[in-house]
Amino acid sequence: MDESGRAPLLSFQGVFKYYGAMAAVDGLSCDIQPGEILGIGGPNGAGKTTLFDVTSGLIPASAGEIVFDNNVITNMSPVDICHAGLSRTYQLNAAFETLSVRENILCASYYGPRNVFFPKLRFDRASQDLADEVIEFTGLEDYENDIAQDIPILQRKLLMIASALATRPKLILLDEPVGGLNVDEISLVMDLVRRMHRDHALTIVLIEHVMRFLVALSDRVMIMHHGSKIYEGSTEGLTKDKTVVEVYLGEGAARRLDHIIDEELHDGRHAAS
Ligand SMILES: Nc1ncnc2c1ncn2[C@@H]1O[C@H](COP(=O)(O)OP(=O)(O)O)[C@@H](O)[C@H]1O
Ligand SMILES: [Mg+2]
Repeated sequence: MDESGRAPLLSFQGVFKYYGAMAAVDGLSCDIQPGEILGIGGPNGAGKTTLFDVTSGLIPASAGEIVFDNNVITNMSPVDICHAGLSRTYQLNAAFETLSVRENILCASYYGPRNVFFPKLRFDRASQDLADEVIEFTGLEDYENDIAQDIPILQRKLLMIASALATRPKLILLDEPVGGLNVDEISLVMDLVRRMHRDHALTIVLIEHVMRFLVALSDRVMIMHHGSKIYEGSTEGLTKDKTVVEVYLGEGAARRLDHIIDEELHDGRHAAS
């Protein structure tokens, strides 16, 4: 519970993930409130992706508990976690490579929101409509009949977000959604994330190295290092935290980030929403 007595939508409670003797996630605790955008940063190898892998059920946690929407989801199957309303994207592009964009999204809109014990020969109307809605929302109309492996990197990133949205989640985990994109493409994804938050009332946890993106979108930030949380708090506090500057940002980047944060505060953080 936070100060106002709200229960978190997602809660990490002393979560560990060991690879051999190494703790990739090392006793991490953090609460995410409904409707919040939490940004996660930290150096390569900090355990950010592993935290998402454990949360989405891709790999089992070694210890600790993860509670989502009042249910313990620790070590539930990825399918059950998806049906509970938690979906994700991946750091590296993941899709059914030989299916079209629309077929990829249809798989998500058909199998994602609920258990399908006996698949039918055709996708039902509701799944088709949901796929169309998501294609329009993510701006993939011009690519819907293209094969996933042939589309450009921005559209591959959008396809992952679209597929995650088509499962009708309450919370979405985005793993480096703008990694490898140019400035204009980053702005486009930023606008999409804002619309997901506003129009779909989604709670969002995003990992990102692009600090302009992270600070512009996040209500709160958590920085990880060696599997642990070294900072949790406001975006404004980031550059004032000695450990964060030392192990992650560096002095120069911290100064540049200060300017960016100032701009964001002046422009209004959610100006586009
Ligand atoms: N499947 C795996 N087997 C062994 N070690 C792994 C595996 N996946 C990740 N790791 C290690 O766990 C640590 C955290 O990795 P990762 O979660 O990918 O970090 P980040 O996403 O913060 O860059 C790294 O040291 C990485 O090498
Ligand atoms: Mg990663």
